[in-house]
Amino acid sequence: MRWVALFGGLFLLPDVLAVKSQDFKTCSQSGFCRRGRALSTRAKEASSSWKSPYSVDPSLVTVSPKEAIAKAAVKSSLYPDIKFSLEVRVHDDGVVRVRMDEVDGLKKRYDEAASWALVDEPTISNTVSWTAGKKDLRAVYGVKKEVELIVQYEPLKVSLLRNGKEQVVLNGQGLLHMEHFRNKEPPKEEKKEEETKPEGEVAPDAGAEQVVMQVEPEAKVENPRAWFEGDSEDAYWEESFSSWTDSKPKGPESLSIDITFPNHATVYGIPQHATNLALPTTTGDSPTFSDPYRLYNADVFEYLASSPMSLYGSIPVLHAHSADSTVGIFHAVGSETWIDIGHSSEKSTETHWISESGIMDIFLMPGPTPEAIFAQWARLVGPTPLPAQWSLGYHQCRWNYVSSDDIRTVQKRFDEDDMPVDVLWLDIEYAEEHKYFMWDKKNFPDPVKMTNDVAAVGRKMVVIIDPHLKRTSNYPAYQEATERKLLVKTKSEDEYEGWCWSGSSAWLDMFNPATWQWYIDLYKTDKRDTWSWTESTTDIHIWNDMNEPSVFNGPEITMPKDNIHHGGWEHRDIHNINGMLFSNLTSQAVMSRTDPPQRPFVLTRSFYAGSHRFGAMWTGDNLGTWEHMAVGIKMVLANGVGGFAFAGSDVGGFFGNPEPEMLVRWYQVGVFSPFFRAHAHIDTKRREPFLLDEPHKSIVRDLLRLRYSMLPIWYTAFRETSVTGLPVVRPHYVVFPKDKAGFELDDQFWLGSSGLLVKPVTEKGATEASVYIPEDQVYYDYFSNHAYRGSSKGKNVTVPAALHQLPLLLRGGSILATRERPRRSAPLMKFDPFTLRVALSKTGSARGELYLDDGVSYSYRDGNFIWREFVAEQPQKRTLRISNKDLGKAQPEKAVDSAALTKFDPTNAFAKTVKDVRVEKVVVVGLSGKPSSVKVEGSGKQLAWEYTLGVAAGEKKEGTASVLTIKDPKVLVTEDWALSIQL
Ligand code: NOJ
Repeated sequence: MRWVALFGGLFLLPDVLAVKSQDFKTCSQSGFCRRGRALSTRAKEASSSWKSPYSVDPSLVTVSPKEAIAKAAVKSSLYPDIKFSLEVRVHDDGVVRVRMDEVDGLKKRYDEAASWALVDEPTISNTVSWTAGKKDLRAVYGVKKEVELIVQYEPLKVSLLRNGKEQVVLNGQGLLHMEHFRNKEPPKEEKKEEETKPEGEVAPDAGAEQVVMQVEPEAKVENPRAWFEGDSEDAYWEESFSSWTDSKPKGPESLSIDITFPNHATVYGIPQHATNLALPTTTGDSPTFSDPYRLYNADVFEYLASSPMSLYGSIPVLHAHSADSTVGIFHAVGSETWIDIGHSSEKSTETHWISESGIMDIFLMPGPTPEAIFAQWARLVGPTPLPAQWSLGYHQCRWNYVSSDDIRTVQKRFDEDDMPVDVLWLDIEYAEEHKYFMWDKKNFPDPVKMTNDVAAVGRKMVVIIDPHLKRTSNYPAYQEATERKLLVKTKSEDEYEGWCWSGSSAWLDMFNPATWQWYIDLYKTDKRDTWSWTESTTDIHIWNDMNEPSVFNGPEITMPKDNIHHGGWEHRDIHNINGMLFSNLTSQAVMSRTDPPQRPFVLTRSFYAGSHRFGAMWTGDNLGTWEHMAVGIKMVLANGVGGFAFAGSDVGGFFGNPEPEMLVRWYQVGVFSPFFRAHAHIDTKRREPFLLDEPHKSIVRDLLRLRYSMLPIWYTAFRETSVTGLPVVRPHYVVFPKDKAGFELDDQFWLGSSGLLVKPVTEKGATEASVYIPEDQVYYDYFSNHAYRGSSKGKNVTVPAALHQLPLLLRGGSILATRERPRRSAPLMKFDPFTLRVALSKTGSARGELYLDDGVSYSYRDGNFIWREFVAEQPQKRTLRISNKDLGKAQPEKAVDSAALTKFDPTNAFAKTVKDVRVEKVVVVGLSGKPSSVKVEGSGKQLAWEYTLGVAAGEKKEGTASVLTIKDPKVLVTEDWALSIQL
């Protein structure tokens, strides 16, 4: 680290901007991970003689008939005096929750991770039949009673089966170990003397030596604890890393559990890691990574583009996939967690989860399809809410726009160059001495006027608010937080002081309920009793950065684990949840600035399961390299697996000065990222798109316009996500779960259900790209209408991909609604007409949807929206009928959140505002011949059209498809109509 003077302030920066692996622990440098992995090694060495010491006491199994919750007492043969409880519930959608905790322990394990992650208390099923037998407890459920849950008593093992086939097994390998709380024993050499001490002072766990474990009838293990746990108390009570010492006052309390998927060879999820979507192995003969995947939210400068190292967020969710079924698990734990992944056979996956503290709280999502898991997951943690529509536009950021005038100039330059942009961002330098909420008046003398100038054309600003508070007497936020005792404490209960951008800083304890309203009130723009951000407007939205939290002089660039939060919990217990509480409260604060509330936009760097309810995320400080561009796509897809659909990477790469070619390619990636923001480090050269030379500038302008023309598609995709839980950008295994050839695919993906298949180019000098088509269907190049024909066996097609060409295919059978008129911002497109692009399937049909609402309020929840379905079909041989009908009343089977749908009335207030919006053009691709007549049904009038001859959808050959363009059919988007095309 070094101190650097910047913008009149002193900053601590790393010496060289390169990943400093030595700042972050490997498993072998982390006591509990070492213990967990050693346990697994011993199990492997012992092979078939290994047996879990944990078992259920059959006499203490109860199933409460009404709640259908099974409870059992669990013991470990290693520690007969220690009691554990097991609780198993089946939710009404078939998700199983398995909880295990220590009972009457010397201390309590943290058990609130799930309560932060879950959106609601799930409903327990009342259709499950439980049978408690002598050897196991069984629950059978499902429409055809196809799902079975078996809790085996001796040794404890939990299995979920579908049609008799094991889907997921807990403790099948006997790696379950819940380290119980204990008193610290005196050091070994002193112990001898102590043994001669007066009677009454019995060493804890005395009697261990008497325990003899029965492994197999003939083999007795004399020292089972050592056999199972190892013979040294490895880092039980204190642990050092680099110059830091973790005091570990509660001693060892880690939790190890193996989770096996005996019939699933591919696993996805556990974001955030910079690696492939199909997670590479960490154990076995030649593992890709030697360390387990780590979940410990961390600010990793210049992270590696391929690594199991921790990054800024953690979602302990995993999908295990095979062509037959998909199953998912979520381990609700907030402490540091390491996950090993390996295969015992070609068709199975073994995972081993090692967490530092907390109860065992595992949710088994039975699937059986990826789609079903997304719904099950969304019922647990809530789906991604519908974001403000403008937030799907283009965001321009840099560290830093240095003054109000700088912002005005940037905005002007976008306008002069006819480039759309919706949001201009301010990084930390807007704040006087990095005291957030306080403007640096020298450079930002007129913040409200500046924001109003930006808002004049419907644009917004996003301003950064970090969680560290500068410790100084002239910062009311810090002063008030101190007076109200809202700050995180050290292990000795003093205010915790660490270093961040603002120099000596303190951190709000977001786990303290007293912090909540006070923090929300900080954002109020009117004057109040407590200090608030009066120099602000409701057009300002928020960026929460550094919320892991990042502490420059802390262990692993974060807080010491023995820091204390509300309720006496140590930071170790809640570390991975910490960042989510900050963005949760920020989103509430932004939302509550107006009455009625408006949809907030909050970008967060740190996240946990459930964070998607509070805003968007980005993949942090990536590098301006091709590798980072490529891995960013995979990371966004992996975040989607965790439910965090609104995701993106810094376009251009945060560090470095990308050459124009790379920047163009990065915009192509950004245009197809749910969250689309360009950002750059303070040391980089300015690289706003208007600064590019030709041809790059025009290419990027076209890309920005492409994004804006597709905003209705993005918004419709987000709407589907908000109702079904499916990700906005979808990997191949989600769309084609049975296609084995595509299980590892993570460089091409689908945009919602639109039929758009994207394969961004992430290589220098590319002129063509290979796209995998998984089915016997026609796919059209979005720009040239070139028809490609897939195969039922799967086929790679080569598509042109020169710099100005983005490989983008549209699946035959899709109808897209776009808005093609270039505007400066998304809100200005509100009343623009639509173009329909009908891409006929090989059988000559197509369908698509369009969802629209006011884009900012919550009135869609009262039924104020339009939802249209476009269908192209052939009622007779030589007729194509394209219709537009209302879908508002439809109740999709897949809906996990249908509250808004039930209130729909086609004459709602929003529908009235867009009643005059027209369809200005209909383009039909792949028609089998030149039409003889094109009319609106019910009208005798011919419409104007043009036709270019080309390949028809039903033909097997490749080449430019035929295109029929119907000009101004004089039909409205909110009304039912049909066009009739006679061939
Ligand atoms: C770290 C963030 O990741 C980066 O995006 C931001 O520009 C800097 N902090 C400064 O706020």
